[in-house]
Amino acid sequence: MSPRALTVAADAIGTTLLGDTAERDYAAKLRLFATFAEPELRAAIRALQLEPGMRVLDAGCGTGEALKWLADEVAPGGAAVGLDLARAHVAAATDHAAPTTLVLQADLLRAPFPSHSFDLVWCVNTINHLRHPIGGIEALANVAKPGSRIVLGQSSFLADMYFAWDARLERVTNEAVRQYYRDRYGLSERDLTNVRSLLGWARAARLRDVHAQTVAIERISPLRPADRTYLLQAIFRHTWGERLRPYLSAADYAELQALCDPQDARFALTRPDFHFLQCFTLVTGVT
Ligand SMILES: C[S@@+](CC[C@H](N)C(=O)[O-])C[C@H]1O[C@@H](n2cnc3c(N)ncnc32)[C@H](O)[C@@H]1O
Repeated sequence: MSPRALTVAADAIGTTLLGDTAERDYAAKLRLFATFAEPELRAAIRALQLEPGMRVLDAGCGTGEALKWLADEVAPGGAAVGLDLARAHVAAATDHAAPTTLVLQADLLRAPFPSHSFDLVWCVNTINHLRHPIGGIEALANVAKPGSRIVLGQSSFLADMYFAWDARLERVTNEAVRQYYRDRYGLSERDLTNVRSLLGWARAARLRDVHAQTVAIERISPLRPADRTYLLQAIFRHTWGERLRPYLSAADYAELQALCDPQDARFALTRPDFHFLQCFTLVTGVT
């Protein structure tokens, strides 16, 4: 059966907290992030010590890079199954994955699997998109075998460092991004920052033996091409593009644009003092 034949309609739930729908497509940004953070994500997956023959679920698999890395760890004889709400992300993950990998379009709150199907569930940067995160973790725990691990990854519990040389401009830029998201999705500051409750949500969902581990995604100049591409395209041009203009003073917006412009002598990514830091946290619990 082709993966697409197993599509489950998820539209009935409406949008998620951050605007995800079956129709939404930010595959390009997801691909850039996965390529950028590949060293840290692969190390986190290797540290899980998966074994050949295991069945793992990547819930909110996006464009499927981690799905492929998970599949490598459980081969031979195992399987990594991807699930995502967005049709475009499922299509991208299907293209990226091995032909035998199953990728389903579905809402993880109604994951179309029998109870106790998986030896491990991996879910990165997704639980914070749900209106009911504890219900989401409970749904993931339901499809995991008793005694198996639920691994919830989340970047940026603490603010990322982009401008090591100018904390003020970085602070007002981060605040402008948050204000943009609050306006766009009608959220309060508490809604946007409640992602930091991930550990508490895991405990509220009655996972056992919950623990957290944070690593730093750290980059300094000179950057690898994947780092430069992610920071330039996903952050400088997309997240910090024209849409931030209303939220910054004219002087700050002009300075930000100069730092983000590869043609400008002030371009941030070629400064010798460019030093990027982002924390990435894995909260793990047992069903
Ligand atoms: C920020 S992306 C993270 C994707 C991937 N895990 C990664 O780390 O690159 C969040 C993903 O969760 C998916 N998603 C959001 N709500 C979902 C839901 N209720 N069920 C399944 N997938 C969902 C989105 O479509 C999107 O692909």
